[in-house]
Amino acid sequence: MSPFLQETMDCLVQSASGQPQTEVRVKPGLKAPHDVVVHVSAVALNPTDFKSPASNPTPGAIMGCDFMGTVISAGTAADKDFPPATRVCGFVHGSNPGNPETGSFAEYLVTDSRLLIRVPDSWTDLEGAAFGGVGWGTVALAMELSLQLQGRPSKPAPPRDDGSRIPVLVYGGATATGTMACQILSMSGYQPIATASSSSSTLVLDYGAAAVVPYASPTCGETLRDKHTGGNLRHALDCISSPESVKCCFTALGRIGARYAGLDYVPDDWRTRKAIKVHMPLTYALHGHEIKFKGPYHRDADPSMLELGSRWRDEMQGLVDAGRLRPHPAREVRGKWKGIVDGLEMMKAGEVRGQKLVVALDGKDSV
Ligand SMILES: NC(=O)c1ccc[n+]([C@@H]2O[C@H](COP(=O)([O-])OP(=O)(O)OC[C@H]3O[C@@H](n4cnc5c(N)ncnc54)[C@H](OP(=O)(O)O)[C@@H]3O)[C@@H](O)[C@H]2O)c1
Repeated sequence: MSPFLQETMDCLVQSASGQPQTEVRVKPGLKAPHDVVVHVSAVALNPTDFKSPASNPTPGAIMGCDFMGTVISAGTAADKDFPPATRVCGFVHGSNPGNPETGSFAEYLVTDSRLLIRVPDSWTDLEGAAFGGVGWGTVALAMELSLQLQGRPSKPAPPRDDGSRIPVLVYGGATATGTMACQILSMSGYQPIATASSSSSTLVLDYGAAAVVPYASPTCGETLRDKHTGGNLRHALDCISSPESVKCCFTALGRIGARYAGLDYVPDDWRTRKAIKVHMPLTYALHGHEIKFKGPYHRDADPSMLELGSRWRDEMQGLVDAGRLRPHPAREVRGKWKGIVDGLEMMKAGEVRGQKLVVALDGKDSV
């Protein structure tokens, strides 16, 4: 029997102990006009895939966010742009306390087509998975909501009076989010100035950073402030959100109108300068649903987030079609479900630097 006709699928879920385990579930179906059902061929791993089960345990929830696959059925509002057989990549909210069925570590998923990217024929499935959607979605939210930057790839910010570009600090330029931010900021008319280790600085420059400062330097913040931005830095995207990264960003930011986007929660006592506006973008929010996380990670349902995400999706599709945007360097982990579990352990151990772990799901092997 064709796998498309089967009513069940394999997937990777949180067990009661929090460890991932494979399970058989009913295949998801269309629920809304903009939905598509995707046959998932490859996935990419994100730190949230091991952090969320620890911070918001949801036994039985399908894990995973980024995916690549092929549309097998489309709702009435999705059918024109995403007919069956379209290769797509995107992101869903895996390990979701509000809906345990939405993860990408599954043979099939259903998702809103307004956040999907059509994948060019020249990209492999693993490259499509590495592109996913968490990366660009995070940068979109950080630029528009957290940092309130007006430039877009389709309408770049104009240069300043002296002809220079507005600098934006990307702390953690070698993260998957960081290389996406450097590319998009640069195409949006800004000058990305990044931090990275010495072994990753070439990568970060290659993805569009105008300069890279070693974050290990005890004077990282002062160097960014005095040498690279002349005390005029107003925007910092912190992809690390540690006490050291916050200190560096807060030192580098200038006196007037400074905004800081931290990808993880930054406690009040790390914030040494109260005048800096701090905001944490939460990428799951782009789906418009309530995020049923605890504390500062909770978000109310907000349909305007889906509108924001959809606008940025259009920007990203244009760049992808024009060959101007590329995924973080992909590194395959073999072994299907076991490959995902192994990859998450590698990430937890800090063994993954400057690479996006990707796993093929359409192979024959399994745990
Ligand atoms: N709020 C949200 O919605 C959201 C969305 C996406 C990601 N995140 C969070 O953002 C963070 C980054 O995620 P990601 O997937 O982009 O990262 P990633 O690709 O997993 O990051 C790997 C890189 O992190 C850098 N790094 C690790 N420890 C560091 C430290 N102590 N100081 C400075 N750099 C360090 C390394 O850079 P070098 O090679 O230069 O050493 C390494 O190459 C994670 O905490 C993730 O949970 C949040």
